[in-house]
Formats: sequence, structure tokens, C-alpha cells
Amino acid sequence: MAKSRSTFVCQNCGAVASRWQGRCEACGEWNSIVEESDPGPTAIRATRGRPFELEGLAGSDRPAARIVTGIDEFDRVTGGGFVPGSVLLLGGEPGIGKSTLLIQACAALARRGARVIYISGEEAVAQVRLRAGRLDLADAPVELASATQVEDILATCATGKRATLIVIDSIQTMHTEVAPSAPGTVTQVRASAQALLRHAKTSGSTIILVGHVTKDGQVAGPRVVEHMVDAVLSFEGDAAHHFRMLRASKNRFGATGEIGVFEMTGGGLAEVANPSALFLAGRDASAPGAAVFAGMEGQRPMLIEIQALVAPTSLGTPRRAVVGFDQNRLSMILAVLEAHGGLKLGMHDVYLNVAGGLRADEPAGDLAAAAALVSSLTGAVLPADQAFFGEIGLSGAIRPVIHAGMRLREAAKLGFHQAVLAQAQQINEDDRRAGLTLRPCGDVAQLVAAI
Ligand code: TYD
Ligand code: MG
Repeated sequence: MAKSRSTFVCQNCGAVASRWQGRCEACGEWNSIVEESDPGPTAIRATRGRPFELEGLAGSDRPAARIVTGIDEFDRVTGGGFVPGSVLLLGGEPGIGKSTLLIQACAALARRGARVIYISGEEAVAQVRLRAGRLDLADAPVELASATQVEDILATCATGKRATLIVIDSIQTMHTEVAPSAPGTVTQVRASAQALLRHAKTSGSTIILVGHVTKDGQVAGPRVVEHMVDAVLSFEGDAAHHFRMLRASKNRFGATGEIGVFEMTGGGLAEVANPSALFLAGRDASAPGAAVFAGMEGQRPMLIEIQALVAPTSLGTPRRAVVGFDQNRLSMILAVLEAHGGLKLGMHDVYLNVAGGLRADEPAGDLAAAAALVSSLTGAVLPADQAFFGEIGLSGAIRPVIHAGMRLREAAKLGFHQAVLAQAQQINEDDRRAGLTLRPCGDVAQLVAAI
């Protein structure tokens, strides 16, 4: 009999090392390598195999309809509803609201008559029920269980009517008999996901696996099952703010650019159909140093306020700090404003903040950031009905960006009347009809002069 050996597996990315290391060479994560016992080569059964029938692409049965939960922001991200037999992974940090979102989705689906099973490996049934009660969902016919053994779960799911949706909260608490390691390790998480995947494909039930993303590698990250599943969704948000974004980073049955926006309220997650209005609420347009960026989140236009504070420094080395913006891009914008805009910022502290805990990662946000900085330095208030988008190059030139039409229409919808954009930005007739006054800007010197 083969001797069982130990392997050293990174709990973040699943890479295998031959000895323990402080840092994973594959993903660069520290302290994520854990010793796991190797099940050894499984005995290969000497059967000759049975021939099976091959089928053509044009099947006789029509493609199965999508399963729609009725929560629009959720259905949008899955590509218009779940595909029967698919497996989705929902990742996110602990406490971000994954369980809340899924119990709401389960309840919505169950109320439409579907059989929905919610398995919690973390909370007792009473706790899940308590939460559902708080969310006013106690009457929804969702079948609940608290279990962690994959074989037991599959045996239960296989009895009775075929379940439309099965939620496993979370995959890191599951364990299966076929793998010897402790729950939460890469081997267990992978083997459990594999068993659940097989069930989804054979039964036609859609399965959602919840995966906690943790920084310290205490449990295997959802990354180790990403390649197996049909779609990877992540639920993100700033714990200090109450809105959350659902994003698809992989989707075999839909586009990945879609995002869903929710607000965490006392009564659970509420859909936000018009995020720009929420993000701009409470804006003080009469103060200098604030510019509205007509940004994009995936395929969705979104107006975001960028705030800057430029103040004389009392330190030898001035401070540059950012929240929600890329530090390197800020350094670059400041250098360009000094070199080509004639501003003197060497003796000033500079702070840049994206309001509401959002992130403005697109290069198209450069122009709005520069406008906010110039406005703060000069004390000139920007017009309240002005939106900005454009990328700044090292030469000081303002460059065109994609999706200009969507940005303009979103700004128009929110009551903006002017847009500052790159001179070279192509705007077609259709986009012009958004009705905004366009203020083309060739370079940063022009921007500074205009403000
Ligand atoms: P939860 O869904 O348990 O997070 P996860 O499953 O991702 O770990 O959400 C936990 C947080 O959500 C909790 O800190 C409180 C907050 N919350 C509300 O603000 N309102 C609510 O109605 C609910 C149920 C939770
Ligand atoms: Mg949870």
C-alpha cells in the first residue's frame, strides 16, 4: 500500500510546495502554506469502460429557461437569471452581507413556487430563521438546514422534488468523506466543491457556494475553486458605508461587466436602481475642491464625487494621501499639473477622497481629480451642473475615453448641464442629443485657465 505523504498547500491560491515556506511563491501571500496529508494515488479500477452515446449540438429539447429571482440587481449580474445545473461562487469578506443577500434571493425564489434549499454550515437553523424574521421573510417556504457533511447534504437534496436552487453557506465549512484533511483546507474545499458540482450537473439544480475571502489565509480562499465553477460573483463594499456592489468576475453564461448595487438597511439589502443619485446625495456643490466624475462601473455609468484638499504644509515633506483613488495616478496628475499647468504644489499637502467609500480606478477619472485639485488650490468653486471625464497623459494632453455616450446620458439624467471632456473625444449625433453643453479641453493648461 502506498504510504500517505504530506504536501504543503497554499490556502490562498492552492499552489503545492514540497516543503513549508513562509511565503507562497505562486501568489506571494505570507503565512498561507499549511501541511495537508495527501490521499495518495487512488486505485484505478480495471474496467474496460462502457461506450456511451454522443449527441449533436442541435438538441431536440429547447434551452432551459433562466431562473429569475425577481431581485433585478441580482439577476442583472448573473446574466439574466441562473442557468439550471450551474454552480456559482459568491465571494466576499466576512460580514459584508453574503448570507443576507442569499436568504433574500432564496425567499424571493421560493415565493414564486420553486423548491429552494438553504444549507448553513455556520449558523444554527434558529439563527437563520431569526434573521429571516428580521427581514420579514419568515413566511417564505425556504427549506433550511444546518449541516456540514457534503454526502448528507446531497442525500437530502436528492430526495423529493428537484430543487431549483441550493445555497451552501459557506464552502469553507463543508467536509467530505473522500478527503482526509480538516474542513477549510484546500483539499477539503476542492473535494466538497467537486461533489456539489457533480450533483448540480446531474440533477439540474443551481448551486450557489458562499466563499469567505480572508486576508490571513486561515481558511482556503474561494480562489481555489474559481476554475471549477460557472460563475464567480463577488460582493464588495466598505464596511463603514452602507452600500454594496455585486460584480461578476467570471460568467460562462453572461457578460462580466454588469454590476448590481445594494444598500444595507435595517431591513436587509435594498436594491439601488439609480446609484448615481445615491452617491451624489448630500453633495455640497458650493465648496471648492469637489468635482463630479462621470465614471463607469463595468457596463454601468455612475456619477461619483471626487474631493480634493490642497493646503500649505507644515512638514518638511508634504503629505499626499488618497482614499478610493490610486496613489500613483495622483502623483502623476500632480506632476503633470506642475509641469504643464504651471501650478506650484511642492509646498502643499494634498488629499484626494472619493466620496461614499467608492473607488475611482478608471484612468477616465484623471480629469475630474485634476479639476478638484485645481479648484481646491485656487478656491474657485466648480459649477454644480458640470461633470468631468477624460484621461491625462504625461504630456499634459487630455485623452478621449470609452463609453462617452453612456457617461453623457447618465449625467443628463441626473440633471447636469455641462460636461468637460477631451478635445479629441468623438461624440456622435445620438450622444449629442443627451442635451449637455460640451466643454472640450485640450490639455491641463486649458483646464487650469478655465477654472
Ligand atoms: P451577513 O449577511 O451575516 O454577512 P456575511 O454572510 O457576508 O458574513 O451580514 C452581516 C452584517 O449585515 C451584520 O454586521 C449586520 C448587517 N445587517 C444589517 O445591517 N441589516 C440587516 O437587516 C441584516 C440582516 C444584517
Ligand atoms: Mg454569512
